Amino acid sequence: MKRIFSGIQPSGNLTLGNYLGAIKNWIPLQKEGEALFCIVDLHAITIPQDPIMLKSRTLEVAATYLACGIDPQKSLIFVQSHVSQHAELAWILSCLTPLGWLNRMTQFKDKAGKQREQAALGLYSYPVLQAADILVYQTTHVPVGEDQKQHLELARDIAGAFNRAYNCNFFILPEPQILGIAPRVMSLRDGTKKMSKSDPSDLSRINMMDSDEEINQKIRKAKTDPEPLPGNVGELATRPEAQNLVTIYAALAECSVEKVLQEFKGSLFSAFKPKLAELMISILGPIREETKKWLQDKVELETILRVGQQQATAKASSTLKDVHRLIGFLQ
Ligand code: TYM
Repeated sequence: MKRIFSGIQPSGNLTLGNYLGAIKNWIPLQKEGEALFCIVDLHAITIPQDPIMLKSRTLEVAATYLACGIDPQKSLIFVQSHVSQHAELAWILSCLTPLGWLNRMTQFKDKAGKQREQAALGLYSYPVLQAADILVYQTTHVPVGEDQKQHLELARDIAGAFNRAYNCNFFILPEPQILGIAPRVMSLRDGTKKMSKSDPSDLSRINMMDSDEEINQKIRKAKTDPEPLPGNVGELATRPEAQNLVTIYAALAECSVEKVLQEFKGSLFSAFKPKLAELMISILGPIREETKKWLQDKVELETILRVGQQQATAKASSTLKDVHRLIGFLQ
């Protein structure tokens, strides 16, 4: 039986990257097994957050999950801080995680930058909490974008470390699932940088709540080159911005990059961009309107999150009970 877990931080506006790299791929997985989708607020506070914004973004992520097609009848939607076992297991796992493993994490290096000495301990140990999120549900599959690959490999290593330390075969080693045509959506201003909710330039990303006009404008202003679109994938690979826009088109249209090139071979960006914007609006527009509807029904939204909390807590506490027994904590 598959058990699927994934999560998104409520640390900024959700982007097209979160949609194409994660949420869109979660929808069909709901049919394949038990699925848990979390809003990882404990992760978000590894960098400073405004309390009022954090609250509203947490609800907005939940509303977006629902608007994209996560079905609360099939899957659990819940907030990480509502299930205290995540933090408890993170502590236990942190006692088994060598510093050397964490020192290799590229995301910490990127986020801490030159201010390494000032960075919070939580930012450094963040991947251990991520491992706990996954392992506390005995998750088998974790659908994520490409940037999370290293963290998922670490989660497997930590599961193995626990099993070895306590001479058991307790934790399941979770499989990363990097799915879809666009597992790494790039910035609209720089085709070599990931599209990110934390980029200071709003023009670098499409936010899930952007208006049709904003989408049109951002696509129009997206960095490109003066050449027409090539006819084959090899040529496209040498042009990062062109490759990004074509890949986004393919992911939204649910077809291959080759097929998009067949259709637009020889077109200039002045012809391709309006088509891309139109396609994007036809998909993101209805999701945005549905998200707004959910946000107007806070009572229903909070009820869904409470049900998620109760059911997730039941699963997580059963794992923790076994972990306590294996470790030798007095029952
Ligand atoms: P976060 O909040 O940065 O991103 C959430 C999901 O969106 C994907 N993603 C992208 N995919 C393609 N292109 C992009 N530009 C892009 N930007 C983001 C991410 O890969 C991710 O799947 N540490 C995680 C959250 C987390 C988690 C977990 C995920 C915490 N615990 C347990 C899975 C399992 C994070 O910061 O994601």
